[in-house]
Amino acid sequence: MVRTVFVNGEYLPEAEAKISIFDRGFLFADGVYEVSAVVNGVLVDYSAHTDRLERSLRELRMDWPCSRTELEAMHFELIRRNALQEGIVYMQVTRGAADRSFNFPRPAPKPSLIAFTQSMSLVHNPNAATGVKVITTPDLRWARRDIKTVMLLAPVLGKQEAYEKGAHEAWMIEDGFITEGASSNAYIVKDGKVITRGLSNEILAGCTRRALFRLAAEHGVEIVERKFTPEEARAADEAFLTSASQFVMPVVEIDAQRIGGGQPGPVVRKLRELFLAEAGA
Ligand code: PDD
Repeated sequence: MVRTVFVNGEYLPEAEAKISIFDRGFLFADGVYEVSAVVNGVLVDYSAHTDRLERSLRELRMDWPCSRTELEAMHFELIRRNALQEGIVYMQVTRGAADRSFNFPRPAPKPSLIAFTQSMSLVHNPNAATGVKVITTPDLRWARRDIKTVMLLAPVLGKQEAYEKGAHEAWMIEDGFITEGASSNAYIVKDGKVITRGLSNEILAGCTRRALFRLAAEHGVEIVERKFTPEEARAADEAFLTSASQFVMPVVEIDAQRIGGGQPGPVVRKLRELFLAEAGA
């Protein structure tokens, strides 16, 4: 089946989808994005993603490409046209196409909106049974990581370093503390309590993180928001990461050191189960 993608108002076979070489997303990474999970053909936590999109656009003084209703309808239509049962919808908005200049073009071009689906195994992701390995690496990103921009070169390099070392994710370090993963939020568990960095401009406010906080509160799992060091992480009872495409994913090795005997622990297994149940898995 040929995948149908969305580009600036049109549904097209992926080979026919085109974006201008003057698009500011391409020239300046002047754009924002969201990744939403789909389980059993249904979007998971979609409104949290549009809330964050709204904030990202506002922070960068970018216009909405369409109404919220149209954006949601577009998500539904892409899922329908691609008969997507499980996977993700990726959507990206940029400031549009105009002759190259650093300042915002005036008159403002129409923002570009593109989206596509990717079929993926999320619920029975084999990594969840074994847990994944992470490495630590310096955090090379800019100071506004709370905005979900497409400027992802530092995470690309971090993730590549992880893959080359046989690991799955890179946990990034700044001033001696772990900020977050290249494309996920980072957590450790000690004495039954979950520890994760508090929200600020230094990390992305994950939608999965937000859902996790609510589920943990409902089921009596304590979460402490504070920074932690790589040393503390390596001595933790359990570790895990969260993202829209991985849900709650156990981490069993940090910098080649086993965590909790190298098996997913009870707290992370429980939190993943709660998340899956809510996602309709
Ligand atoms: N990444 N932190 C960073 C730096 C991320 O890129 C992501 C998500 C998260 C988790 O956010 P959420 O739970 O809303 O997915 C945290 C997406 C999945 C990606 O870039 O593919």
